Amino acid sequence: MTTVTATAHPNIALVKYWGKRDLPLNLPAVPSLSLTLDGFETRTTVTWGADHDVFELDGVPADAKAAAKVFAFLDLIDPKRPPCKVVSANDFPTGAGLASSASAFAALALAASTARGDDVDPTRLSVLARQGSGSACRSLWGGFVEWRAGEHPDGVDSHGLPLAGPDHWDVSMVVAVVSTAHKPVGSTDGMERARLTSPLYDTWVAQAQGDVDVGRDAIFARDLDGLGRVMEASTYKMHATMHTSAPPLMYWQPASLACLHTVWALRAGGLSAWTTMDAGPQVKVLCRSADAATVADALRPHAMAVHMLRPGGPARIVS
Ligand code: PMV
Repeated sequence: MTTVTATAHPNIALVKYWGKRDLPLNLPAVPSLSLTLDGFETRTTVTWGADHDVFELDGVPADAKAAAKVFAFLDLIDPKRPPCKVVSANDFPTGAGLASSASAFAALALAASTARGDDVDPTRLSVLARQGSGSACRSLWGGFVEWRAGEHPDGVDSHGLPLAGPDHWDVSMVVAVVSTAHKPVGSTDGMERARLTSPLYDTWVAQAQGDVDVGRDAIFARDLDGLGRVMEASTYKMHATMHTSAPPLMYWQPASLACLHTVWALRAGGLSAWTTMDAGPQVKVLCRSADAATVADALRPHAMAVHMLRPGGPARIVS
């Protein structure tokens, strides 16, 4: 019996992943870019060898669906594994479009593999974490990360790739939380709905590599306007595939829209602040760290909570 605790931070996509070319393996139809964020964290303790399988999430026994997902993930590590106890906690809302599944599966991959005594090379863990939640493959590393779509049918070449560490660039992501309700449609169902029904889906896929190339250059050049432009383009192309799905999928709430217009008004006034949204109603804003307080103050009237988050570090073992 071995017990290991690991932590990981969520990451927010700068160029988005939306759509799968292989459902069980979580192989993406598109490449993506992300920023790992400090401030929010998942902390997961795995006991490899327990009386029976247990999964506690945020202090209570997890629901059957979440537990089944975690135990199936442990089966990927070792189909003949012993019963395991997994205790996981997020210090931010779970399942509300704040990338909790990304930090969750990155922390779980690291804690469980270490507890089993496996090789914990981050690239190998990234391939593993991807199978729990696609975006989790980017949370093994800190800072700016690329996820190449890969070509192999088994997914060995579909993993995160660190581009630049958290100290590369003093930017912040200001997160406006407008609702903490659990999202009504999960990302896998949303992606499949878009793939099967949105007339915009093929264009979305066709343009993704170009957006990643522009975004990567902007990260290396520390060009905030360039990165912001392509991040907003990727964000609203992705949401357009949701809005044009049948039935339509709309994660935005009135408060989300109020936040977007607030940021665009700041930008019209000369501040370099750029919006993004994921599979939830929260609005995230990329800006210089020196401007984060100004952005946060402007968003506060429309939000339940506003967080100013800097680039974060990699997943790591804490005990
Ligand atoms: O990793 P998943 O299955 O939770 O999908 C994440 C999808 C988005 O957050 C909307 C975009 C992204 O690239 O993170």
